[in-house]
Amino acid sequence: MLAGDVAQVLISEEQLKAKVKELGTRIARDYADKNPLVISVLKGATVFVADLIRQMDIPLGIDFIATSSYGNSDASSGVVRIVMDLASSIRGRHVLLVEDIVDTGHTLNYLLGILRSREPASIRLCVLLDKPERREVSIIADYVGFSIPDYFVVGYGLDYAQKYRNLPFVGVLKPELYRLLD
Ligand code: IMP
Repeated sequence: MLAGDVAQVLISEEQLKAKVKELGTRIARDYADKNPLVISVLKGATVFVADLIRQMDIPLGIDFIATSSYGNSDASSGVVRIVMDLASSIRGRHVLLVEDIVDTGHTLNYLLGILRSREPASIRLCVLLDKPERREVSIIADYVGFSIPDYFVVGYGLDYAQKYRNLPFVGVLKPELYRLLD
């Protein structure tokens, strides 16, 4: 079974549920009359965003954007590519960018730059996980679920070689499974 590949559960299903509810309630309060456009970064943030918006009892829109993934050495060198753009214009909209994790910060730094150049009314960042130890460019998210140590984690949308996104918790794989990263 998939869960059998996991050495340690870092954040349980119950902890995720409680945190997502807390974040969603807070964000909904902050955006009560703003009809925000919630932008999910594919693919990692999809599980998080699907749960998050169901905790936001306000009018909102959603859209998706995809960047080149971490498996591609581009991400660590700071060169990030958009592989699928938004379907809608964000000009004049209150944008909430939702990402699974901020690691070195390059992906979000690049994305925020692109989105700001499109002149939204405002833009804020919500991340489920933050790995502050790994930061190479300064990114401070407005809403953060959990700060975690420098572990490579999977589950709840996060993958390792496109696997494990469907685990309902966030965990660390058994060390022998991470060979591809070395
Ligand atoms: P950054 O550009 O280094 O901040 O990395 C951003 C992207 O790398 C995230 O959107 C994830 O897709 C991926 N990533 C970073 N750390 C992890 C991890 O621990 N597990 C899975 N994916 C990760």
